[in-house]
Amino acid sequence: MKNTSGKFITIEGCEGVGKSTQTRFLREYCEKFSIDAVFTREPGGTPISEQIRAVILDAAHQSMDSLTELLLYAAARRQHTAEIIAPALAAGKIVFCDRYSDSTLAYQGYARGIDKQIINVLNRFAMGETEIDYTIFMDVHPKNGFLRKGGANASDRLENEGLAFHEKVYGGFKEIEKSAPHRFLSFKATGTKFETHALIIAALKERGVLT
Ligand code: TYD
Repeated sequence: MKNTSGKFITIEGCEGVGKSTQTRFLREYCEKFSIDAVFTREPGGTPISEQIRAVILDAAHQSMDSLTELLLYAAARRQHTAEIIAPALAAGKIVFCDRYSDSTLAYQGYARGIDKQIINVLNRFAMGETEIDYTIFMDVHPKNGFLRKGGANASDRLENEGLAFHEKVYGGFKEIEKSAPHRFLSFKATGTKFETHALIIAALKERGVLT
């Protein structure tokens, strides 16, 4: 079963690139026009997955093995997909998800160096029949995002990685974009945040996601 009548939109990019602001603008837009949309995020989105998120991101967990981390992301995604995303799509809703399977490929695959084939299998396993319709990709190099934001937030284990790690993440997203051009809607965010928002709305309208 594909998504039936709903539309599944993921939002991806490196840290500090305006992803949260654009997600908030999208939410406000949907509220304003009474569009029946669900806004959610990964890791997280359900009580069980939010608890897994806390384990993954806890800065005290420096000894976390990278495969453990990968399996925790997959477990959080499975629960989130089964409990929230798939039912909302089946009910015909638009689901906007802040990070999803491409983050795993970019962070755990391209940046941490875990076998990408294994990640693809795990992602598929966690997603079941759910398919991403479009991915809004904030195409901003970490030098212009992460660093501008003031570098690492010490309480977040993943933000604590250095610039080299985030450059690998960015390179990963660019590779994924090349392999899935049909679903990637990429935004360089060179204008103001309001201009970027207008471009995102226009792209979603053009593809019939928003009316
Ligand atoms: P979060 O604070 O939500 O970051 P952001 O605001 O940038 O989205 O933390 C999520 C972190 O988890 C972020 O560093 C990216 C990372 N991540 C992975 O490494 N793999 C994944 O599969 C997902 C979903 C997130």
